[in-house]
Amino acid sequence: MASVSLQGISKIYPGEVHAVRDLDLEIRDGEFLVLVGPSGCGKSTTLRMIAGLENITEGTLKIGDRVVNDIHPRDRDIAMVFQNYALYPHMTVRDNMAFALKMRKVPKAQIEEQVRWAAEMLGLEPLLGRKPKALSGGQRQRVALGRAIVRKPAVFLFDEPLSNLDAKLRVETRAEIKRLHRELKTTTIYVTHDQEEAMTLGDRVVVMCDGWVRQADSPLNTYRKPADRFVAGFLGMPPMNFLEGYLETVDGKLGFASRDARLRLDEAPLDWLRGESRRPIVAGFRPECLELLDPAEGIEGQTLEATVQITEPLGSTMDVYLQTASGIRLVCRTAASPLEAGKAVAVQVLPENIHLFDPNEQGDSKSPTYYGRNLRVLESRGIAIPRLCTES
Ligand SMILES: Nc1ncnc2c1ncn2[C@@H]1O[C@H](COP(=O)(O)OP(=O)(O)O)[C@@H](O)[C@H]1O
Ligand SMILES: [Mg+2]
Repeated sequence: MASVSLQGISKIYPGEVHAVRDLDLEIRDGEFLVLVGPSGCGKSTTLRMIAGLENITEGTLKIGDRVVNDIHPRDRDIAMVFQNYALYPHMTVRDNMAFALKMRKVPKAQIEEQVRWAAEMLGLEPLLGRKPKALSGGQRQRVALGRAIVRKPAVFLFDEPLSNLDAKLRVETRAEIKRLHRELKTTTIYVTHDQEEAMTLGDRVVVMCDGWVRQADSPLNTYRKPADRFVAGFLGMPPMNFLEGYLETVDGKLGFASRDARLRLDEAPLDWLRGESRRPIVAGFRPECLELLDPAEGIEGQTLEATVQITEPLGSTMDVYLQTASGIRLVCRTAASPLEAGKAVAVQVLPENIHLFDPNEQGDSKSPTYYGRNLRVLESRGIAIPRLCTES
């Protein structure tokens, strides 16, 4: 087993394609780390650099204590599982699993022993004599997993291994991968674009965008304390609601005001924003944090008015799509109840559920501050925010 260390890693493909930008990441021995982000954000490139399948343009990569930038993939003690299984079609399951060991001239008896161990681990014994074309997609991916674990490598690398499976198999195989990790405790780096996979599998989740790391944190923290507006919007389904507006001070108390709403903010953690009224700000709140009330029950400073557009029943819960008077769309996840399109409602947002982000315009697309930073998270970490509109 081994730790993996990425220091200032960048990848520039020919044509000035900046796929990965100045990536710093320390992956603990035994950790299950997930790289997540939209298509094209640099996840596979990162993984392929760790595997040695892609040159590193800049930076230092270590596996354990060893710098491996120039080490051949075969000598890095890693095993990789791909989306498309990549099994040898002309070989049986047994031979597919034994292949890498044979190449390494492992003694025959030991190969048999390790193949038997891996097959048992994954319930593959009945399939050992078959060829890949006689297997279902799910079985093929189990064989690919078997082929990875049989070598007992120091690090597992997974690139979207579940993407070709149907929904049910995806969930089953996900649980299988989690169990394998619990039993083997092998350092694992797992790439997915699927936020649910990221949240359920990762000890730590690294959210990437445009080649940058936006946040590396526990699954719960990325959800509850997203570092910026990108992370906030990427994790969570339905996604977080955003309202553009500005800060205001009413009777000495800090609030958020937009065309549709005036909402009270928790004051205690926002001392440093005092005197920043009229500062442009984006308020964010998650769908499950909203409460729908009768318009007559509206509460000053806590509710905004909206009209129901569509409801999507999901069994015990439902998603309610709303529109404010100024035309902003919001979504609320709430307990299932009869609610008709066209009905006017008061949407309650409690102060503690409001995230505050800098507007997007700050910074530019070439820098990681492009997406509005989460001001409360910065404050909780003691990071000073430049004042924008200090009052006299
Ligand atoms: N071999 C390549 N040559 C040039 N550009 C590439 C190559 N591979 C990937 N890219 C580009 O690098 C960026 C990151 O790609 P990739 O790492 O595959 O993203 P992801 O796995 O997150 O979808 C994309 O813009 C992609 O088009
Ligand atoms: Mg990819």
